[in-house]
Amino acid sequence: MRSRDQQLDHFTEWLRGKGYDQHRLQLAEFPETGRGMMAKEAIQVGQPIVEIPRSLLITCKTPAVEATVKSFSGDSTLLSEHQSLALFLAHQRGILGEYRPYINLLPTHFTTVAALMPKEIFNHLPWELQAMASAQRTHVRRDYARIMGFCDDCKGKAEYSSKDGSCPNCCTRPSLTYTDFEWAWFAVNTRCITLNTTQRRITHSDTPKIALAPMLDFLNHTSEAKIQAGFDATGQSYRIRTLMPYEPGEQVFINYGPHDNSFLLAEYGFVLRHNPYNHVIVDRYIDEIILEGETVDSRRVANDILDGHGLRGDYTLHLDDDPSPRLTAALRIRVLSSVLKSVPPNVADMCWEPLVPEQERRVQDGIRCVCEAVLLHAEQALRGLSGLEAHSKESLAFSMVQQVWNDTVAIVKGVMQRLADKEDTCQM
Ligand SMILES: C[S@@+](CC[C@H](N)C(=O)[O-])C[C@H]1O[C@@H](n2cnc3c(N)ncnc32)[C@H](O)[C@@H]1O
Repeated sequence: MRSRDQQLDHFTEWLRGKGYDQHRLQLAEFPETGRGMMAKEAIQVGQPIVEIPRSLLITCKTPAVEATVKSFSGDSTLLSEHQSLALFLAHQRGILGEYRPYINLLPTHFTTVAALMPKEIFNHLPWELQAMASAQRTHVRRDYARIMGFCDDCKGKAEYSSKDGSCPNCCTRPSLTYTDFEWAWFAVNTRCITLNTTQRRITHSDTPKIALAPMLDFLNHTSEAKIQAGFDATGQSYRIRTLMPYEPGEQVFINYGPHDNSFLLAEYGFVLRHNPYNHVIVDRYIDEIILEGETVDSRRVANDILDGHGLRGDYTLHLDDDPSPRLTAALRIRVLSSVLKSVPPNVADMCWEPLVPEQERRVQDGIRCVCEAVLLHAEQALRGLSGLEAHSKESLAFSMVQQVWNDTVAIVKGVMQRLADKEDTCQM
């Protein structure tokens, strides 16, 4: 067993052997984010922070990946890119192969990703986060079943979703445990880059769209980082330039995209302390509230209109902004359906403008009702989490889920405060 320093030296040597020999960044531990990349020297605006040669990128077209996929399926083109890369990593994990120096440095587990949180924490996730995580769990199981399904004898085992269900080695191909595949699937999901080359349109449709980029994939995310990234066809490398300067010793970040904390927790297993993209999805809460004067019939009429005009769902609350126009529009349609005997045919146009004051008051009451329902749910979840926290090993996952709920409370309280302020102004 090599020490961490030896593993790092081995990895650096390995990178050099594959054509990567740059000195601006080095791996380091940071109190707030864990492992990331540190500037070894001052870095100016516009300078490249990493440049990964094509030979170091791992894609579904990399010969070692194609060979692994072939050994499982007989044909290297039958799997999706994500499936191929995950199969490759899972296989490499179990052997002393060419990629061992890289595999050694990958995280050993992904227990802060929402889908892999223990049940007691999972049950306290916000609904939309639970839905994202459940979809991911299904996706991983389906991908595993697809790979196992290439061999008739293994098919039965593939349906077996136990974490330790393994290929019984009834055929000549290598074994693949569910545990290794799940680890690899999340390694790819949390680390792969999108190869958005500008020449995509003129390249073949089978040009890889995602890749693992050893070294680049040790860069952490902030929403403030400004970068320019892409594959450079001339230099045959994937290059990231920073559009912000760094001092020696500072952590260098990239930007994974305009993601809120729920998305970050589902896809990457972390949250930001201050995230400008946070919002609260209230689709399920709005379905559960009853507005003043609403009946089962008026609700059905409103829902038919909302469905018919593509206005059902995607309702959000924001920290420093009004509720989403879709949410207000949906509530206006529900109010109109409840107060008018027959709803005017142009109701889907009317709903974007304020209604008469009494009807608009009911809309605002509806928003307040939604906020109260979210607050109640947040308080219950936070109470449930704090009761369990002391007994759990997953303290990091706990604090991340708590933060998502605290973000939610802050947003909802802000919306309620602005509603109250508006009311005060109207009464003056
Ligand atoms: C592409 S990797 C970055 C390198 C990773 N920290 C490592 O040590 O291998 C993405 C993972 O890094 C972590 N990460 C990225 N940005 C972070 C941040 N701002 N705070 C905490 N963790 C972060 C998350 O675990 C995420 O899944």
